[in-house]
Amino acid sequence: MRMAQHGESGRIVVDVEPELKRRIYSALSLSGGTLKDWFIKAAEEYCEEHRKPVPVSNVRYTRSTKTAPASLKEDFQPAIATAVEANSNGNGKPAKKYTVVSMFSGCGGMDLGFTGGFEIFGRRYRSLPFEIVWANDISPEACKTYERNLGHKIHRGDIWELIDSMPKKADVVVGGFPCQDISVNGKRAGINGARSGLYRAMVEAIKRLQPKVFVAENVKALLRNEVWLKQVLSDFRSLGYEVSCELYRAADYGVPQTRERVVFVGTAKGVKPFTPPPPERNASSWVTAREAIGDLEHLDESPHINHIWSKANVSPEQGNRRLHHDRPGYTIRAECHGNIQFHYRHPRRISMREAARIQSFPDKFLFMCGIREIERQVGNAVPPVLAWHVGNAVLDCLK
Ligand SMILES: C[S@@+](CC[C@H](N)C(=O)[O-])C[C@H]1O[C@@H](n2cnc3c(N)ncnc32)[C@H](O)[C@@H]1O
Repeated sequence: MRMAQHGESGRIVVDVEPELKRRIYSALSLSGGTLKDWFIKAAEEYCEEHRKPVPVSNVRYTRSTKTAPASLKEDFQPAIATAVEANSNGNGKPAKKYTVVSMFSGCGGMDLGFTGGFEIFGRRYRSLPFEIVWANDISPEACKTYERNLGHKIHRGDIWELIDSMPKKADVVVGGFPCQDISVNGKRAGINGARSGLYRAMVEAIKRLQPKVFVAENVKALLRNEVWLKQVLSDFRSLGYEVSCELYRAADYGVPQTRERVVFVGTAKGVKPFTPPPPERNASSWVTAREAIGDLEHLDESPHINHIWSKANVSPEQGNRRLHHDRPGYTIRAECHGNIQFHYRHPRRISMREAARIQSFPDKFLFMCGIREIERQVGNAVPPVLAWHVGNAVLDCLK
């Protein structure tokens, strides 16, 4: 691609190879937009995001009924974004980074969101000044995916065996503690179950590291049990933190999925209390399934981009819902055993790449494992776009 700017006339001429031009027009025909409209919207959003200083609490994006076709994103990723981000305080010095310890990191959905610098659905989520200095998960497969995509080491093993290898201090501790014992789809042993009781490892880590802020994510079902909720809140509060607990609907933040998750945020004494990020969308502007995965409709299975799907037949128990093209997808579950939701148009279940898109993972994020494990990693993850919004709001507390 070659680009030339013509004086101050406003004309920008872009030479595009014929094959890319064909792909651009075919993607645009799905969304019904014009190239000019798409370019102007993308440019405006890009400039808006890189305006400095960015008053996080005021960040609002122009609501649009059309979303740029996702397939355009790789081709249009402006090289300049990397250069701008490299010097993000604008004075040539590297910006201050806040250190983060990440627990129960899984494939890295939350961590990708916290560090930012990715693009999905035609929008760039700028880099946030967080540096993950220590991460951990017990699953070797999740660790493989994490290292491939986050580009740094993750400690593999049981948190209780590795907790002593954490650094002595960190600005932020984040973690989505395991939820199978709490989830309505699980056996519901609750916070005393072997897996969900692991939130106590977060309590212990916070006690040791004394972060300025901590973020703990879990399923909505935790709110339905007053005893469990009170216990978790009181354990976190006993450490001297001001703790807020919010329910987020991912679709309100630009994730094409109706997933709802609880996020606890604790702020240490002297740190500005946390204000949850304001929703950007509502039911009339949620990103729809077709906007999220429409450009993959005609693609054959392609294992190298995780575009593979389960051949499980309709199950007598679960996973028989079909997506609606004009609505966000249903919650992607971790333990669905192949019974993931059906495509809105095709007589097949959605592919793992489509599931990843519905969780707002960029296409560059590749899962390094087989189909069942991809299901687990995608379904377990905090949608990176939702995590980015939470990270942005955490940043506001630290400034
Ligand atoms: C809900 S998932 C977290 C997903 C992650 N936050 C993300 O956004 O991708 C919980 C993770 O805890 C991990 N886990 C379960 N038991 C563990 C243990 N004893 N020690 C360390 N990690 C554990 C699981 O392998 C799983 O990846």
